[in-house]
Amino acid sequence: MTTRMGNWLDERLGWRSVWNAIFLRKIPKVNWFYALGSATLFLAVLQIVTGILLTIYYVPTPDHAYDSVQFITTQVPAGWFIRGLHHYGASAMVILTVLHMIRVIVYGAYKFPREVTWFTGIGLLLVVVGFGFTGYLLPWDQKAFWATTVGTRIPATTPLIGDTILRIMRGGSDLSAVTLARFFGVHVWVLPAALLILLGIHIYLVIRIGISAVPRRDE
Ligand code: HEM
Repeated sequence: MTTRMGNWLDERLGWRSVWNAIFLRKIPKVNWFYALGSATLFLAVLQIVTGILLTIYYVPTPDHAYDSVQFITTQVPAGWFIRGLHHYGASAMVILTVLHMIRVIVYGAYKFPREVTWFTGIGLLLVVVGFGFTGYLLPWDQKAFWATTVGTRIPATTPLIGDTILRIMRGGSDLSAVTLARFFGVHVWVLPAALLILLGIHIYLVIRIGISAVPRRDE
């Protein structure tokens, strides 16, 4: 029954060749360091799922942000677990992304023909750091408030345009409801969209070009 349905759909969509290209492609024998990218990918999916679940209760306004996070942690069933996964997952993702990048550098996998994979990787690194920066403000506690106060002052030291950058980031001269709304919007809309686009190109290229392997002595 399932095979017949699969065949029926394959005649119309040609999904089997896509499935084979993604999951049944030949890969060279490599070591565990090559799993770092997939581990990062796993965490990206985990962050998206837990992040969506958190938005069900989180309220991005100065009046309610802190209380809504406390409510998630103490009242919502398994809320502490979902928040914990998202919280520690964020740090783990930064660490794994950097480790994956180091693997790529050490094995020279950024060279021809994988330069564009590398460029999209740089974009992904910036997106991952952006997630961490914008997400840190969302609990709206003292640590979040002052960390973002300091964090937004750093780019403000840029000559000539520093003050403009600070105002764009804060939505005014000080941290306010506008800053929280802005950071939330970037955290749940802008960065996820950038992540999905960059990741789509990144993974497409990994599949299209094939994974780099260290040449053997007898090759
Ligand atoms: C969200 C972050 C990222 C995810 C989810 C991700 C995912 C992946 C995956 C699944 C692979 C194939 C397996 C592997 O080589 O480990 C890969 C390969 C690759 N990635 Fe990433 N990546 C990320 C960030 C980066 C960064 C920051 C760089 C470098 C700036 C980068 C550069 C590359 C390159 C050049 C390859 C090809 C490696 C080869 O063919 O050996 N990636 N990535």
